[in-house]
Amino acid sequence: MAAVQLLLLLLLCWEAALCRAFTFVKLYHKKPAEPVDSVPDCWFLQKLDHFNGADSRNWMQRFFVNDSFMQPGGPVFLMIGGEGPANPAWMKYGSWLTFAEKLGALCLMLEHRFYGLSHPTKDMSVENLRYLSSRQALADIAHFQTVMTKQLKLGDRKWVVFGGSYPGSLAAWYRLKYPHLAYAAVASSAPVNAVVNFPEYLEVVQNSLARNHSACPKAMKLASDSILELLQYKENYKKLTEDFRLCKLLQLQSDMDISFFLDSIAEYMMDIVQYNNDNREFEGVKGGNVTIQVVCDIMDNESLGAPYDQFVVVIQTILNALGQKCIDAQYKNFVQEMRDDSWEGPASQGGRQWVYQTCTEFGFFQSTDSDSQPFSGFPLSYHIQQCSDIYGSAFNLSTVTDAVQQTNEYYGGFGIKSSRIIFPNGLIDPWHALGINSNLSSDCFAIQMEDAAHCADMYPERPGEPSVLPMARNFIFQLLTKWLQS
Ligand SMILES: *[C@@H]1O[C@H](CO)[C@@H](O)[C@H](O)[C@H]1NC(C)=O
Ligand SMILES: *[C@@H]1O[C@H](CO)[C@@H](O)[C@H](O)[C@H]1NC(C)=O
Ligand SMILES: *[C@@H]1O[C@H](CO)[C@@H](O)[C@H](O)[C@H]1NC(C)=O
Ligand SMILES: *[C@@H]1O[C@H](CO)[C@@H](O)[C@H](O)[C@H]1NC(C)=O
Ligand SMILES: *[C@@H]1O[C@H](CO)[C@@H](O)[C@H](O)[C@H]1NC(C)=O
Ligand SMILES: *[C@@H]1O[C@H](CO)[C@@H](O)[C@H](O)[C@H]1NC(C)=O
Repeated sequence: MAAVQLLLLLLLCWEAALCRAFTFVKLYHKKPAEPVDSVPDCWFLQKLDHFNGADSRNWMQRFFVNDSFMQPGGPVFLMIGGEGPANPAWMKYGSWLTFAEKLGALCLMLEHRFYGLSHPTKDMSVENLRYLSSRQALADIAHFQTVMTKQLKLGDRKWVVFGGSYPGSLAAWYRLKYPHLAYAAVASSAPVNAVVNFPEYLEVVQNSLARNHSACPKAMKLASDSILELLQYKENYKKLTEDFRLCKLLQLQSDMDISFFLDSIAEYMMDIVQYNNDNREFEGVKGGNVTIQVVCDIMDNESLGAPYDQFVVVIQTILNALGQKCIDAQYKNFVQEMRDDSWEGPASQGGRQWVYQTCTEFGFFQSTDSDSQPFSGFPLSYHIQQCSDIYGSAFNLSTVTDAVQQTNEYYGGFGIKSSRIIFPNGLIDPWHALGINSNLSSDCFAIQMEDAAHCADMYPERPGEPSVLPMARNFIFQLLTKWLQS
């Protein structure tokens, strides 16, 4: 074992040093927001295009290692990166490490191409974004696994892949498409079914708000209606600007401007529900103390005034907790930032890339097109329009619809057929509507977690968390133990 560790250290540190040396100038300005002490960046020589044998271009992909728990013959755990910078905090915290400790696993995390510091091309022009897709990302993982297995002499150690949210889908799909490489997968809160229009998202938001506070969604709906009324007259724009702490005086010249303002406000509430009462603090995330409970208590407090006034207090409470001074609700600014294709741009950590993936693979557009939800004003057409405003006029409803259908054809959507996959889903979390919520077979399991939020099973244990979480983690651990023994 000592020999293996020495080899790892030599190899990885050497690679890290090498790559730092030649990418330092380029990377200097773009350190991810929350670096974690003593987890060094490692770099892997990756192919640009896995589906064209005539294209030999390469690039450097970032990964992280924790070999503290590695035992002879133990498995390899791979945390799959997703739609943002890979956060090295995961190499120190998280339920997968407690599994790794008990099972003697080597832990690796691979950043997703185009996100964080993993830059396959010189910029993110629409031309270059052709190389951004879940299929290329899965092939990256396969190449990484193959080369690492050889370089680190990992022999026939079994690889288990982990991921939450979009990377949860990648984990399931890696097991599906590369069964000779992936032995098992834990796909937390994975939206495996692509949809163009996703009005169910806000329906779950409504149900989650109503769970302990039956009057809460109704009050929020009344607040939304009041906002719509205020928007009808220009003399109210100053009041709206002040109440919602907009960075600039509200200006509405088009339907897109109106939708963007309403969407921006509603997204603060969506986040509260999606991440309700979870334990993400180790990732450096702020605002976790504003929960559904806090929000609905405000919407229930008559001394604060009408529902509109209560909702204003909700948004201000959230902004205070996030330490955010104002909301930029100008659609023009947003489009301008999203169109910036440089690696230094304001949306370069993931915004430009992820919306591109929604326009070309997944849809997932969280619209107000259902009557059973509390918000108004951002229909599917608004989201589709964003695709063409940001990436060019080649995108429209029919191209997005085709792309989404292709995605489901390729991966199977809800009908995914595989084995040794676990699908945990928090039932508070709106994304569970696109996940696997019933057991598919005798070795493909769904775990439904009452009262739990997005990816909550992946976070470290915490006193006061929903009691279903320790049970879910234990269920995952028992299954992995059983599968790895056979
Ligand atoms: C691996 O994770 C454990 C658990 O958090 C931590 O104590 C250890 O320092 C980590 N090892 C490395 C090499 O990062
Ligand atoms: C509802 O109340 C129960 C009991 O207090 C609590 O455990 C649960 O987390 C609450 N759910 C939500 C969504 O606030
Ligand atoms: C209602 O809001 C007022 C003003 O912020 C506050 O003093 C009071 O404690 C709140 N009432 C409840 C029941 O939360
Ligand atoms: C949440 O925490 C922040 C900073 O720690 C604090 O300023 C704020 O008052 C808290 N908000 C609530 C609703 O507890
Ligand atoms: C959508 O875009 C495609 C390709 O850019 C184009 O061929 C098609 O005519 C457009 N369809 C509609 C309904 O605009
Ligand atoms: C799936 O099967 C397991 C084990 O039999 C069971 O505990 C669990 O409740 C089932 N999940 C669902 C969503 O029915």
